[in-house]
Amino acid sequence: MTSSQPHLHQKSPEIQQFGTVTQLPIALSHDARMYACQRLNRVLADTQFLYALYKKHHWVMRGPTFYQLHLLLDKHAEEQQTLVDVIAERVQTLGGVAVGDPRHAAEITEVPRPPDGVENVPTMVSRLLEAHEIILADAHDAAARVVALGDDGTQDLLVSQVIRTGESQVWFLAEHLVVTPLAQG
Ligand SMILES: [Fe+2]
Repeated sequence: MTSSQPHLHQKSPEIQQFGTVTQLPIALSHDARMYACQRLNRVLADTQFLYALYKKHHWVMRGPTFYQLHLLLDKHAEEQQTLVDVIAERVQTLGGVAVGDPRHAAEITEVPRPPDGVENVPTMVSRLLEAHEIILADAHDAAARVVALGDDGTQDLLVSQVIRTGESQVWFLAEHLVVTPLAQG
C-alpha cells in the first residue's frame, strides 16, 4: 500500500567516521589526504572560533569608536564565515569529514576562550589579533607541509584565502591600537 506518511525518527550508525578519508580520484595519496584533512580541521575549528569572537566583540563593542568597530568586526566576521565554508568543503573534497558541531570544534581549537563578560576596547582588539596570529602561524606551517606531500590545492587555499584574508584583517585591526591625536592644539 502506498502512503504519503514520511518515515520519521530514522537512525543509522555513522557511515563515515571522523578522522577517516574516502578514496576520491584526485591524484593525491591516502596519506596526503589524511594529513591535509587533519590540518584543515584544526584551521577550521580555529576559524569557527575566530568568527564567533568577531561576532561577540561586534555586539559588545564600546566607546567613541563603537560605530566603526561595530561595522568592521561584522565585515571581518562575514569574511571568516566564508572561510569556514571554504575550508570545510576542502576537507570534504579530500574525502574527509569536516568538523561541524561547535562542541567538537571546541575540543580542537587552540584559540583561547574569552571571558563571558566584556573587556575594554584595546583588550578586545588585542584578543582578536592574538587569535589571528595563532591561525596564521598554523596555516603557514600547514601550507608548507601539505605542499611537500603534493597537495597544491590545500596549499593554495591556505595561502590565498586563509593567510591573505587573515593578514589583511590584522592590518585593519592593528591600526586601532595606534595612539594618535585627532587634532594638534
Ligand atoms: Fe550585527
